Amino acid sequence: MTNTSKKTVMVINGPNLNLLGSREPEVYGRESLKDIEHRLKTHASATPWQVDFRQSNQEGEIIDWIHEARESAQAIIINAGAYTHTSIAIMDALLAVNLPIIEVHLSNIFKREDFRHHSYISPASRGIICGFGSRGYLLALDALADITAQKQ
Ligand code: DQA
Repeated sequence: MTNTSKKTVMVINGPNLNLLGSREPEVYGRESLKDIEHRLKTHASATPWQVDFRQSNQEGEIIDWIHEARESAQAIIINAGAYTHTSIAIMDALLAVNLPIIEVHLSNIFKREDFRHHSYISPASRGIICGFGSRGYLLALDALADITAQKQ
């Protein structure tokens, strides 16, 4: 499939995810975010999707990217990091976007501290994948490919 005929999924990573690999590897694994980006892009090459992979530590920048996705993408995969548990502004931005949104977390947030059990991203999301490490990004892409192929 040529790139021009592919749909674009914007993959947004929030704060501290740039430190993956060295940050609490027992929780988040030893792969870097670059490794995950590479694996996801390789995985996507066998699907009708191309990946626009991003990371920011700034809440406002993430909100600007979500607005941008309204024009530049056909879906969003988001791991908002700790903003998951705090950001009404990111939730509002996601609610304003009429695209399928899949929430991803490397760790199982429900197995961890109580403050991680609530997500402001979930009310705007089609589904959530958490606890499968970096594989969650690949699962999210597969889910997206499935739901958009079936249009449900
Ligand atoms: C995380 C879980 C969040 O609670 C945490 O703040 C992160 C990473 C995850 O991928 O498991 O930064 O989103």
